[in-house]
Amino acid sequence: MNRAFVIDLGGSQVTGLVATSEDRLRVEALASLPSEGVWRGNITSPDAASAVLRRVMADLQVKGSGTLGPAVVSISGAHLEVLNGQGMKLIVPRARHITNQDVMEVVNHSRAILLPPDREQIHVVPRAFRIDGEPGFMRPTGHPGSKIEAETFIVTGKKDAVETLQRVVVSSGGTVDQIIHAGLAAGLGVLKSQEIDQGALVVDIGYGTTDVGLFFAGSIAFAASIPVGGGHVTSDIAELLKTSVEDAEQLKIDSGSASPRAVPESDSVQVCQLGQPLTRPMHRRVLAEIIESRLREILLLAKAAIDKTGLNTRVTLVVLTGNGAKIPNTDRLAAEVWPDHRIRVEFPAKGTAVALGLARYALQSQEEMAPAAPSAETLVGRVRSLFSGLGKN
Ligand SMILES: Nc1ncnc2c1ncn2[C@@H]1O[C@H](COP(=O)(O)OP(=O)(O)OP(=O)(O)O)[C@@H](O)[C@H]1O
Ligand SMILES: [Mg+2]
Repeated sequence: MNRAFVIDLGGSQVTGLVATSEDRLRVEALASLPSEGVWRGNITSPDAASAVLRRVMADLQVKGSGTLGPAVVSISGAHLEVLNGQGMKLIVPRARHITNQDVMEVVNHSRAILLPPDREQIHVVPRAFRIDGEPGFMRPTGHPGSKIEAETFIVTGKKDAVETLQRVVVSSGGTVDQIIHAGLAAGLGVLKSQEIDQGALVVDIGYGTTDVGLFFAGSIAFAASIPVGGGHVTSDIAELLKTSVEDAEQLKIDSGSASPRAVPESDSVQVCQLGQPLTRPMHRRVLAEIIESRLREILLLAKAAIDKTGLNTRVTLVVLTGNGAKIPNTDRLAAEVWPDHRIRVEFPAKGTAVALGLARYALQSQEEMAPAAPSAETLVGRVRSLFSGLGKN
């Protein structure tokens, strides 16, 4: 049985999760605490972040998972960039069956790219393979061929940011196995395999970041981390209604709406303004207008990031997640931004989209790394694509 320990170090909450997979993913232990020292995907105070993570890890151990093992951790932040890699390997002797080792080598070949000295590669995901020039292979292992080519998705980031993240995990008593883009993880957390095949966009609205992932043809096509989130919605409310941040947060959660038109004109909310002894009634619609304006900006930034790639033509589904999308009618606003798309809002019952996606990723890569079965046929069955079943095999 495979087991994965994952960490979602968010700006609002730190979530740790242990998951196992037999037939399907099962959450064995889950722990979550309010975050400290993380803002816009960047760790602004490593000591504070580490103190929280240490408690989350202790909590996970108490919940019966024993030793946690190396962690798969998410990363976000505006410094992240993604690029497409190309790898090639000649198979000798010609036309023998392709092995796991060949696949690993061709994927590694795709990583031979030059980066500025302050940046590093964080992870690489194979998207599709060609065998002897024929495209569309998701699982090339076991196929006969003379040449294998790989198309990969490579995530790069600022060295400082990656090192700080690693340091936080290590100083909390853990070790890092892999670091995965939060936009990719969010998609794996809420999308079904079929949706990854057919095409979907995931928008995870967090506290200081909105992580975006674009999927189609069975794999990740693009990801971005936009440095605006639900925390900005709250600070807008505080600034414009002249309240404390705490009161603004409460107003947003209790009475917020992303659609002013859906709020009856006569609705009012009690607002406690800074320096005022008494609360005063205000139009609830005004609150909704403040929220709508910032949320629309967030969704438009997500749309612009995707549109810029020119890759979104095949995608007709948008899935919203992250607690920042919990404001009622966020889906309605998204339907205005993506009028030709189906919109779904999804909040996992256990853990975050990112944590569950990390677990899915970790468990699946463990499965793929498992020792190869003796016959080529079982091998093909065993080495599944990371994402789904689309493609020739
Ligand atoms: N019930 C709710 N209704 C509206 N907004 C909510 C609700 N609960 C939480 N939020 C908002 O969600 C935001 C935090 O989202 P989330 O917990 O997904 O962030 P995070 O993953 O910790 O942060 P990030 O992904 O930015 O690092 C906050 O701005 C908070 O105000
Ligand atoms: Mg998050």
